This record gives sequence, structure tokens and C-alpha cells, in this order.
Amino acid sequence: MTRGKFVTIEGCEGAGKSTQVRLLCEWLDSLGIDYVFTREPGGCKTSEAIREIILSNDYAGMDAGCEALLYAGARLQNLRDTVEPALAAGKLVICDRYVDSSFAYQGYARGLGFEFVESINRKALEGHTPDLTLFLDIRPAEAFQRKHGADKSDRMECEGLAFHEKVYEGYKEAQRRFERIVSVDCGGSKEETAENIKKILTQMGIVEA
Ligand code: TYD
Repeated sequence: MTRGKFVTIEGCEGAGKSTQVRLLCEWLDSLGIDYVFTREPGGCKTSEAIREIILSNDYAGMDAGCEALLYAGARLQNLRDTVEPALAAGKLVICDRYVDSSFAYQGYARGLGFEFVESINRKALEGHTPDLTLFLDIRPAEAFQRKHGADKSDRMECEGLAFHEKVYEGYKEAQRRFERIVSVDCGGSKEETAENIKKILTQMGIVEA
């Protein structure tokens, strides 16, 4: 059995990732492709429980290192429970956020550093480098303007614009380090962005359309 492909999707707050993920799944369904969709933090029972803690406003004072470790723990469990079995069964796996979120949010915006994030994720990452990472490339300032403001419901969303701009810089830094991260032009309509994603997946041989 050939191993399946592993594709992750990243973006800053307000980039329209939820919509793009939905449109992507609809497209894969229409093509009859056998894929597994999962998300971080979460995706399996244990990691969904960790998600509740990480995103809850009850823990506003959470230490950045603790936050990074919780994301890494949720990641490891979801790899074991969801991602690894699907890849082994030859399925395409689409994961909404992955380790690059930790590089951008915890490593860069929280200031913990890339090396720290890499070290605590080593166990999770062994043999689980994505074949492709799609980065919805739009600056938070622009995205928020388009959406007429930011959502402010969970603990991460409550961070200000300066934090989210740093997250964007973190993604750019990750892109300089990892060739697998491809920018998706998000300057047009959501339909145009969805077309851009389809084009990349087809051109890279991830999906045969
Ligand atoms: P979610 O509601 O899934 O946000 P989004 O729709 O933007 O993906 O919440 C996930 C939040 O967790 C989001 O603010 C990004 C953050 N995050 C990190 O800070 N580090 C990580 O490693 C991951 C996976 C997510």
C-alpha cells in the first residue's frame, strides 16, 4: 500500500481558512477522493479535550511554554489516532493547522523561538513532515479590514492586531526555512482563492482532477 499524502493548511486569524477548508472538502468529495479531514488542536478525543483547555478564556494567564507544550501534545495524539492510520491506509490527509502554527504563534509571536518549538515537536514530527503546506497569504490587518474587524471569542483571537501581525511574520520566517510551504494568493474573491488552491494541489500531483 502506497502511503497517502499529507497536506496541511495554515493562515492567520481572519484569512478565511474555514471557508477554504470547506470548499476544498466539497471539491474532493465531488471528485470522489478518499481523504481524511482533521484539525489542530483537536481531531481526536484526547486532543479535542486539550483544545477546550488551550482555547478557553478561563486560562487567560497560561504560560506561553505551557501553551506550546499543550499544542505539541494534542498534535502527537492526533497523529497517532487520526493521521498515521489514514496515511498508512493510503488516504490523502488534509489537516487544518499543524506545526507551522506553533512556529508562527508560539515560536515567533510568543517569542519562544523556532528551536524550542522544533525540540518539543520532534517526537510528533518524526516521519510526519507534510508533503505540502498551503499558507493563506494575507496580512491580518488587511483580512480584518475585509471582515470589518476581528473575531474575539477564544483566548488566541483575543490577542490584538500587533500579535496577529507577528504571527504573519512568523509564517514568513517558516516559509524561508521550509520549501514545502506554498503561499496561496488570497487577494481575490473566496472562489478565486479556492481555484488557486485547486491549481496548486493539481500541479503538485497531490490531487488528480
Ligand atoms: P481555531 O478556532 O481552530 O482557529 P482558526 O479557525 O483560526 O484555525 O483555533 C485554533 C487557534 O489555535 C488559532 O488561534 C491558532 C492557534 N494555534 C496555535 O497558536 N498554535 C498551534 O500549534 C495551533 C495548531 C493552533
